[in-house]
Amino acid sequence: MLSARNDALVSVGVAAFDAQHVRLLELIRGLHQGLLDGVSSEVLKSGLDQLVTETMQHFRDEEWLFGKTGYPAAATHLAEHEDLTRQIIAVQAKYSGGAHGMLTLEFMDHLYSWLTHHIATSDFAYGAFLNARDIR
Ligand SMILES: [Fe+2]
Repeated sequence: MLSARNDALVSVGVAAFDAQHVRLLELIRGLHQGLLDGVSSEVLKSGLDQLVTETMQHFRDEEWLFGKTGYPAAATHLAEHEDLTRQIIAVQAKYSGGAHGMLTLEFMDHLYSWLTHHIATSDFAYGAFLNARDIR
């Protein structure tokens, strides 16, 4: 269960992205806790909207830098971003449409696992490339 997890977050070597990663994981934990606490659907909806907005902004920021630097693994990385974006937008759309059962502890657990895995693998992989171009 996510509330009992305390994974050490991997640094990807770029301070702004590390900070965004911390923030996204905080938002996911907040939604998870909100579900456990039984907060209102309005509060959960605003948390979910915030998570979608900040996730998409974060992905755009990474992708912009990939384009600027010619990062060679950008295509597979973008495909992972698209995968997660599709998942969270689908849940957001259904939640907004009244399907409140779509937002579950299991989904938040899944998002947390997806993101920490992505950070530790795909994101970690760009660190050395960007650091070599004086981006850190
Ligand atoms: Fe990424």
